[in-house]
Amino acid sequence: MAIKRIGVLTSGGDAPGMNPCVRSVVRTALYHGLECYGIRRGWNGLITGDVVRLDEKNIGHIINRGGTILYTARSKEFMTEEGQLRATATCKFLGLDGIVAIGGDGTFRGAQALSRHGVNVVCIPGTIDNDIGCTNYCIGFDTAANTAIECIDKLRDTMQSHERCSVVEVMGRNAGYLAMYVGLAVGATAVLIPEEPIDFNRDVIEKIRQARFNGFTHYMIVVAEGAGSASDIAAQIKEAIGLDPRVTVLGHIQRGGTPTGRDRVNATKMGYLAVELLVAGKTNRIVCTNAGSFTDVDIEEGLNMHKGIQRMEEDVLMAMTGV
Ligand code: F6P
Repeated sequence: MAIKRIGVLTSGGDAPGMNPCVRSVVRTALYHGLECYGIRRGWNGLITGDVVRLDEKNIGHIINRGGTILYTARSKEFMTEEGQLRATATCKFLGLDGIVAIGGDGTFRGAQALSRHGVNVVCIPGTIDNDIGCTNYCIGFDTAANTAIECIDKLRDTMQSHERCSVVEVMGRNAGYLAMYVGLAVGATAVLIPEEPIDFNRDVIEKIRQARFNGFTHYMIVVAEGAGSASDIAAQIKEAIGLDPRVTVLGHIQRGGTPTGRDRVNATKMGYLAVELLVAGKTNRIVCTNAGSFTDVDIEEGLNMHKGIQRMEEDVLMAMTGV
């Protein structure tokens, strides 16, 4: 059956690039002669029927805007069978033939449930954590990383002037992709990520000593939120070697800001592919990008994939820290 009308929503934590992705979904839908509706406030909007018609005009000039014009939420109700049935009923009532859901793994689990109730759904990975196993890249990662890098570069100026130690906490939930990337980009003294077991003396204290022997008198420690709290690590450093580190938790600032070119282009390609998949009659898929090409994978399969930290990345991290 040819599809006529689709919906698009953003769910979970927002990520810079969600707006360009919504824009791309709408433009691709219109290109195929489909009607497109924005579902507001994530899955909650599908439960309550909180929808708005989207066309060229109301998605104009959002390609450069952070956040999401559709709002977002983490819906507890949608995690229940009753919530999913209500959302399915909304799709039937409004005649939505397919849904594009932009978000992280929680969003994908919701999409999978909806798909089991017979609704066509395609997911797009949008999370600064970059922690979706089936895709090398998630929308928002590049912007978040660049925001964190800019902040840490600023911190370094004052840390250097005062010959201090800085402990900076980077977001990422249970994953260290963001912290590792940022740590490499700022030339951190040490980087702590949850994927690697931490030996505090070897991974922090010895790295600081190494830097000191190399002539440095300020130290930048980057810690992924999933690897520990910056204040605890600062306290441990103080106790171990008497430095008095300053603590910075970058927090939600990493989720805001104008999406970078990389995020805009990836978001645009992913949005396009998601609609193409729905038009081709596919459902229950996650759009992904690996080794430069854009593909799709079954939701269940995608959720079970694990990308981990590459051996080479670990080696680079070992070689680049402590200097
Ligand atoms: O998943 C994105 C993320 O920003 C994580 O990095 C962080 O742990 C979490 O969301 C914060 O969630 P909230 O916006 O609910 O504070």
